[in-house]
Amino acid sequence: MVDGFATPGPRHWRARAARRRQEAWVAGLVSEARARSSGDGGGPPARSAIAVVAGFRDADGRPLDPRTAAIELLNIVRPTVAVAWFVTFAAHALHRWPEHREPLASGDDAYATAFAHEVRRFYPFAPFVGGAAVRTMRWRGERIPGGALVLLDLFGQNHDPGLWDEPYRFDPARFAGAEIDPDVLVPQGGGDPRTGHRCPGETITVELLKCLAVRLARLRYHVPPQDLAVPLRRVPTRPRSGFVIAGVHTAPATRGTGAHRAS
Ligand code: HEM
Repeated sequence: MVDGFATPGPRHWRARAARRRQEAWVAGLVSEARARSSGDGGGPPARSAIAVVAGFRDADGRPLDPRTAAIELLNIVRPTVAVAWFVTFAAHALHRWPEHREPLASGDDAYATAFAHEVRRFYPFAPFVGGAAVRTMRWRGERIPGGALVLLDLFGQNHDPGLWDEPYRFDPARFAGAEIDPDVLVPQGGGDPRTGHRCPGETITVELLKCLAVRLARLRYHVPPQDLAVPLRRVPTRPRSGFVIAGVHTAPATRGTGAHRAS
């Protein structure tokens, strides 16, 4: 489902088919969770995602129909899985610039935050967001007819030399102690998530990425020969070979210490 995002053709059709299958499967889980919770069958734990979503009600106070509940749940699961793409890019960055491994492994929360922001800025994932102009308007002298599709070039903005010093240098230090301007750093859309085209799950993404990047930095592994080029023609993109690691073990000196203990 993630791999077919913003892509025409067979990958997109496969993604749509996968989505339909997952919706049917999760709708069944929602019905089962409700039946078990109301009988003696022992439903899912009260605070589990499935239990929370199975309990959602619509504006009239009625339980959501199972398919709508399934879509709600998949709207959380799918983008959470998508964070794995950023984790792969974090592995790529640690491989290319291993000097970041030690400060990341130390558990310094500010460093991990800066590293996560730089991974999201530097690497391509969502290349653009789109919206339809609700009326004819002018923006910086440009006429935009009502209904026109307007695209915001996220990758372009995150590498704009007018906004970023040496944009093609991977440098978490650019975020050290810096306030994030939501209209400048836009890896997950721009503006305010409540009114604009910005991902409401951005803080979750950053926390997840920080936690997993620190765990990765604390692992010792070997990177066998593979094709780590990141093609910019593919959406969403990733290293051609994925990121294959071998001989994994946890570094004894840093195991289980600091703010990002493996959990
Ligand atoms: C790889 C990480 C992620 C990327 C690149 C990403 C990117 C985006 C983008 C570009 C949008 C569209 C914004 C728009 O056009 O209005 C969006 C919407 C959304 N994202 Fe994310 N996202 C990520 C992770 C997450 C996570 C972890 C969650 C929640 C657990 C999440 C929840 C959502 C939701 C619910 C929407 C739809 C909002 C709406 O339709 O109003 N995302 N995301």
